[in-house]
Amino acid sequence: MALLEVEHLTVTYGNVHAVRDVSLKLEPGEILGVVGESGSGKSTLGYAVTKLLRSPGQISAGRVLFEGQDLVPMAERELRKKRWKDIAVVMQSGMNALNPVATIRRQFEDAIMAHSPMSQTKMRERVAEMLQLVNIDARYADNYPHELSGGMKQRVAIALALVLDPKLIIFDEPTTALDVVVQRYIVQNLKMLRKRYNFSALFISHDLGTVLEIADRVAVMYGGKMVEVQAAGELLKNPRHPYTEALLKCFPDPRSEQIEVLGIPGTPPDLADLSPGCPFHPRCAMAMDRCRVETPEYISMGEAGVACHLAAREVEVGQNG
Ligand SMILES: Nc1ncnc2c1ncn2[C@@H]1O[C@H](COP(=O)(O)OP(=O)(O)OP(=O)(O)O)[C@@H](O)[C@H]1O
Ligand SMILES: [Mg+2]
Repeated sequence: MALLEVEHLTVTYGNVHAVRDVSLKLEPGEILGVVGESGSGKSTLGYAVTKLLRSPGQISAGRVLFEGQDLVPMAERELRKKRWKDIAVVMQSGMNALNPVATIRRQFEDAIMAHSPMSQTKMRERVAEMLQLVNIDARYADNYPHELSGGMKQRVAIALALVLDPKLIIFDEPTTALDVVVQRYIVQNLKMLRKRYNFSALFISHDLGTVLEIADRVAVMYGGKMVEVQAAGELLKNPRHPYTEALLKCFPDPRSEQIEVLGIPGTPPDLADLSPGCPFHPRCAMAMDRCRVETPEYISMGEAGVACHLAAREVEVGQNG
């Protein structure tokens, strides 16, 4: 059974359709990267999965199956038991993921006591062990968040997410506000942690380079829609959607130190305007007449998928030829 299965999820903020009919599957131990421009609905998708949407965000259609159980109709009281213990969230670096008025130790202890209480001695050991995992000296446990650097705070947030050994972690731009060296360090650290703890993750970032480095598969969002999913290596070599191709061109070499963002001409779609057609067609060099009037369906091919009239034709030719 898939660990997480999102089926036809639609999330709205009033008349803004931030996530539109998105489906995805996550296997145990798998890391799915989610990329897309600012406003494409990545965070909304991540927070909808844990039902932590900010007002007036609402799931207006679809299901979120966690271990086969739909979280959408689930009562807040039940959800609270699952959050952190089963599904943990690491928010954008620089955001107040940590409580500014509590010591680091206190934040670990609160989480432990709320979900799986243990003795004071055990807890001290556990906090030290968790900090060590992200290469932070245990003496920082008695510091307040503002006494730590941005990179350290983010590593504490990761350790905090891991403390109850969750099955799924949602990372929302965990390294975005950090400098490149710290970013890489954290990504390397996360790769090690994943090996050790075997958690699944939704790794949300607008930085395709980082996502390609850490994710097994990558989901590309555009205008609230999932436009392509592929294994990371395949996506890099053989993008199917013109938007993915354009994104890759923004990163001439995702592994180079100096990532030059060339940008894609044009602006993203207005999510309050649901006129038909492919959301990307105004910016797509390959757009056909059909793309202006008919919204392409997401065609799932097992682990991969694409929503593009042109790509669909190529997939068909590939299958028949
Ligand atoms: N609380 C809110 N109220 C109203 N609209 C919102 C709210 N949060 C997000 N939106 C809208 O929903 C859409 C998707 O936003 P979201 O934050 O999910 O995008 P994102 O891909 O995470 O962007 P970014 O890369 O900037 O973080 C945007 O049009 C945004 O303006
Ligand atoms: Mg976001």
